[in-house]
Amino acid sequence: MQHLLTLEDLDRTSLTRLLDRAEHFRAHGAPRDLLAGRTVLTLFFEPSTRTRTSFVLAAKRLGADTLNFNLSQSSTSKGESLLDTLHTLEAMGLDALVVRHNENGMPAYLAQHANTRVSVINAGDGTHAHPTQGLLDALTIRQRRPDFENLRIVICGDIRHSRVARSDVHALHTLGVLDIRLCAPRALLPEAQAFPGCTVSEDFGGAIAGADVVVMLRIQKERMADAQFPDAADYHAHYGLDARRLALAKPDCQVLHPGPINRGIEIAPDVADGPQSRILDQVANGVATRMAVLAELLATPA
Ligand code: NCD
Repeated sequence: MQHLLTLEDLDRTSLTRLLDRAEHFRAHGAPRDLLAGRTVLTLFFEPSTRTRTSFVLAAKRLGADTLNFNLSQSSTSKGESLLDTLHTLEAMGLDALVVRHNENGMPAYLAQHANTRVSVINAGDGTHAHPTQGLLDALTIRQRRPDFENLRIVICGDIRHSRVARSDVHALHTLGVLDIRLCAPRALLPEAQAFPGCTVSEDFGGAIAGADVVVMLRIQKERMADAQFPDAADYHAHYGLDARRLALAKPDCQVLHPGPINRGIEIAPDVADGPQSRILDQVANGVATRMAVLAELLATPA
């Protein structure tokens, strides 16, 4: 594996190996010098709290040098092309480029043009993919329920614009989940055939009945160009996860959300902070997952 751009082309064995490695790092830490002498650079064209910090922490915990490329103070803001920026950074001896971009396919484009010793990791591109989020969500679910084939999983929220939903579904299907239900108001449902093998519904109460896992998604106002934004109070009334609605799921239903959360819109504060919430476990698993990905891509003999 040289790059991590999407989870679509990873089979069950490769996914499981990454999750096992992440679980091992979470439980036992990692050899501090595993990536000594390697350089990992984050290049984010969109805001981020969790993803960027956890990649940096992950790289540091493996002993790599890390750099955050500051776009507003870089030559990219003077009009330098992305490829010229890439080749400039490569000339400084870069090993991995962690990139987030608002355009679908930009990490793949950079991977195509990168020199052979650089690994490109997609940290979220447009509405297309967010592979490390898919991995860390699968890891979080697996810690309590390793029996993927028995799970009923509901993903509710802005499915149409969600790269998280796409990567979650790729990972979960590959790991054996059969029953994945996508739920959203009509304007936020995906285009037909965007999620083969999933059921689609506008009725959250019906979809969540008997669920083992519910993944709530943020309303992404920044990607709403083509969809009408529903009124926040109305949205919460129909699609918000509150205690009453969570009671329709299985009693041990796990609640996930990739963050950032909009309290009181897609999730009620008492659910976000409640005993079934795995939100902070997701964050902790995010660091371990990104360590596993970096180790997988970079820790081979140079
Ligand atoms: C997500 C993202 O940016 O794709 N956040 C994240 O990485 N934790 C989801 C979101 O922004 O809603």
